[in-house]
Amino acid sequence: MIEFTWRGVAVCYDPSMRIVRLVQFTDPHLFGEEAGRLRGIATYPALIGAIEHARARDWPPDAIVATGDLVQDDPTGYALFRRAFAGLGVPVHCLPGNHDVRDAMRRELAGAPFTLGGSVDFGAWRLVLLDSTVDGSAGGCLSDGTLAELDKALGDAPERHALVCLHHHPVAMSSRWLDRVGLANPADLFRVIDAHRNVRAVLFGHVHQSFEALRGRVRLLATPSTCTQFLPRAEDFAVDARPPAYRTLELLPDGTLQTEVVWVDSCAARSPRSVCSAA
Ligand SMILES: [Fe+2]
Repeated sequence: MIEFTWRGVAVCYDPSMRIVRLVQFTDPHLFGEEAGRLRGIATYPALIGAIEHARARDWPPDAIVATGDLVQDDPTGYALFRRAFAGLGVPVHCLPGNHDVRDAMRRELAGAPFTLGGSVDFGAWRLVLLDSTVDGSAGGCLSDGTLAELDKALGDAPERHALVCLHHHPVAMSSRWLDRVGLANPADLFRVIDAHRNVRAVLFGHVHQSFEALRGRVRLLATPSTCTQFLPRAEDFAVDARPPAYRTLELLPDGTLQTEVVWVDSCAARSPRSVCSAA
């Protein structure tokens, strides 16, 4: 509780009672060259377009979350990632995806405003960022060490609502090819989550499409890429023509989470803002 006097009036302010605002950008797949293209889309201009779109709305957020595949197997792409985010004046919390080059990522994104992995507290919430990558594999897996980190991060702050972030999807997407490269051990993740009562949502990328489900009281949220999308429920790999996108999140002090996928296309339909109580 912070107490101060404003215009002669005593004011009590509880910082944990504020709304925490986040923006998630995921799977930008940058190359070392601005003009580098993935499936016909120049990924750096697409990312800049998504950032500028977000800046024209409610800005600044408390933090940006970048949930992996920051580059397309190209370590020189991190210089462009730095250029895109370093001057925004907003903390940028990152975790790796299967196309990231982890040593280069750690080296190139060392220091403010970037943070890799770990956990961070905002208001009444704790964000926990997990590394689900496996060397040489498109699919993911959470190691025993990472699961222990999650267990500790949740157990150390039982009074905080938690948002768990990772790259790979921990739930089937009803897409045969994509579900072969999801998280290999979702039961281990949910065993840890179920051992605590404070996880409100799991947030991920990798699937290049919008997705939302509810597992008990925990929301499962996937966000489209800032470049190209995958066709939902496709048996075999297929590209979707939907435009780049990002996600906004408002984390309320009571554990409620409001979120919206924002498509970066003036003609695109926007998903309705959805609200779910944690109670
Ligand atoms: Fe990706």
